[in-house]
Amino acid sequence: MDIVRHTLKKYEIIEKYLGACKILFESERKPNFLYIDGYSGPGKVHFEDSDWGINKLIAGSPLIAIEKLNPEKSKKISCVFIENDSKNFSDLESYIGTIKNVKCLQGDANLKIFEVLDKISPFTVVTILLDITKYNELKWNTVENIAHHKKPYGTDIIIHLPFYTMNAYNNWENDPEGITNFFGCDDWKQLYEKKRNGVLEIREFEEEIVNLYKKRLGEVAGYSVVKSVPIRHVQSLKQTQRTIYYLIYGSNNEKAAKNIMDYVMDDKTLHRYLNKYIKTLEEWGKLEKEKIKNKLTLFDFSNKIIKS
Ligand SMILES: C[S@@+](CC[C@H](N)C(=O)[O-])C[C@H]1O[C@@H](n2cnc3c(N)ncnc32)[C@H](O)[C@@H]1O
Repeated sequence: MDIVRHTLKKYEIIEKYLGACKILFESERKPNFLYIDGYSGPGKVHFEDSDWGINKLIAGSPLIAIEKLNPEKSKKISCVFIENDSKNFSDLESYIGTIKNVKCLQGDANLKIFEVLDKISPFTVVTILLDITKYNELKWNTVENIAHHKKPYGTDIIIHLPFYTMNAYNNWENDPEGITNFFGCDDWKQLYEKKRNGVLEIREFEEEIVNLYKKRLGEVAGYSVVKSVPIRHVQSLKQTQRTIYYLIYGSNNEKAAKNIMDYVMDDKTLHRYLNKYIKTLEEWGKLEKEKIKNKLTLFDFSNKIIKS
């Protein structure tokens, strides 16, 4: 699986969030913590960027979670990774191997998540990452059923709202049913109409679309805290461009959500981080180019780059 620059921002959010969860839930008095990555991908992803001279396999969301949560050494923290594509699943299994408190499941996340939720002990806080590529991979019913699943502590979710793949091929017009299944209603049609008539600019339309989903998470799914952060195309250090997707967070634990997500989803902090990270990568790219071509080098900044 290939990733591009803006994916680094997603990884930063996941890392920060799970880092905070690790600290929060490791304490004896706190409930157990289960992290489900519903759309795991292959575990490691290929990051190639010729401008920066980078061509590496780096940790994807499952390996980031294992590094941050360290479930193997924990009595209270566990992870489940779900992936439906056979090739991605076999890569995932081979990268992860056998780790205590970690399970990989092959299948449709819209079903598998509930097999997991039905089995876990009540004294468990759950966070589910729903990092889809296309809107038709996640049904609104799944989100609503996760939110209403009977767990004393509720279940937090982080959802990828794939604005870019909705816009691509003009799916608003070509696949209205698919888009309605994603939102669980067809209120998006009025917004699209306004965009078509020029009443809404593309950025305004995008914001309205995200607000519609957030409103549904609040009013229909019943989340008391709903936050979002845009993931935009990164062209250069100073410029970010069109929106690719949003990450949206829903929780009923207002205190934890405040402590964790205000910090994790602060776009300004993330942007500063991203700039710093990109600079490191650029420097690294320059160094790599100067080195003797066939001599393998291993560069490790905070374990971000993993040996292939
Ligand atoms: C955006 S990628 C995940 C990337 C990964 N989270 C990361 O950051 O490294 C989405 C993944 O979901 C998988 N997928 C698509 N539909 C699915 C479904 N219904 N159930 C489970 N996995 C699915 C795809 O095969 C793909 O590997």
